[in-house]
Amino acid sequence: MKDLAGKHIVLGLSGGIACYKAAELCRLLIKAGASVQVVMTQAAEQFMTPVTMQALSQRPVFGSQWDSRATNNMAHINLTREADVCLMAPASADLIAKLAQGQADDLLSLMCLARP
Ligand SMILES: Cc1cc2nc3c(=O)[nH]c(=O)nc-3n(C[C@H](O)[C@H](O)[C@H](O)COP(=O)(O)O)c2cc1C
Repeated sequence: MKDLAGKHIVLGLSGGIACYKAAELCRLLIKAGASVQVVMTQAAEQFMTPVTMQALSQRPVFGSQWDSRATNNMAHINLTREADVCLMAPASADLIAKLAQGQADDLLSLMCLARP
């Protein structure tokens, strides 16, 4: 875990029952010295609240590609700019299928597909 110190991790949550584990994963990443930016799908928000993930990550959580908090309105580009790793946990079957097929109809899939 010490290799994580100073790393910036984008943690993507999609709608799987294992979202309950994402809170602990986030806590452990922070504890190990990483910074964590959480991105959630709407389905993920049925399993875990953005409030919890924001509190643990100490950063605002993003969930929409239309979120105007990004000054250029391109959260899907900005969020991964400084990332060392983009970690999808949990990765739903739906998310995996979207990435395989190049579908990008929400922030998380769009963000993944926009990253080279
Ligand atoms: C109780 C419940 C548990 C689910 N668990 C999983 C799961 O473990 N893995 C999975 O791929 N989908 C699971 N799903 C289905 C996804 O939530 C569903 O396909 C959703 O549309 C995924 O959306 P997303 O990929 O945009 O997050 C579950 C659905 C429900 C209602």
